[in-house]
Amino acid sequence: MKVIITGDHAGMTIRNEIKALLEEKGIDYEDTGCSCETSVDYPDYALPAAERIASGEFDRGIFICGTGIGMSIAANKVKGVRCALTHDVYSAKLTRQHNDSNAIALGERVIGPGLAREIAEVWLDTAFDGGRHANRIGKITTYEDQ
Ligand code: RB5
Repeated sequence: MKVIITGDHAGMTIRNEIKALLEEKGIDYEDTGCSCETSVDYPDYALPAAERIASGEFDRGIFICGTGIGMSIAANKVKGVRCALTHDVYSAKLTRQHNDSNAIALGERVIGPGLAREIAEVWLDTAFDGGRHANRIGKITTYEDQ
């Protein structure tokens, strides 16, 4: 699995925590987040990263900002990206099983690094259930293709 991780100036601590997790798990990743010496605009990071998931260069993406909201809104504008704003472990599991999410967004001003790590780990380790859920995602894909 190849993962792209990105974030703005408000997501540095969680970004570093998740990078440590990816390294521990031996997952290949690229960090395209800001160097964060100054305030930046989250779409400048979310949109290019989401495009690299949509193109197939990366399997999954982890998007981090202050609330996770801006990153998730921007990432979901890119066709083929299903980015779940996820601040609890249950949702992290279910969004893989039911939504086949290929990205998550996390908000560093909402949750701490310990919970963010647990969310990311469950999300990385959970498979898509397929079946009726694949049919539902197919309806989203059909809409995107119109
Ligand atoms: C930056 O202040 C903040 O607006 C951004 O990180 C994010 O929370 C936007 O949704």
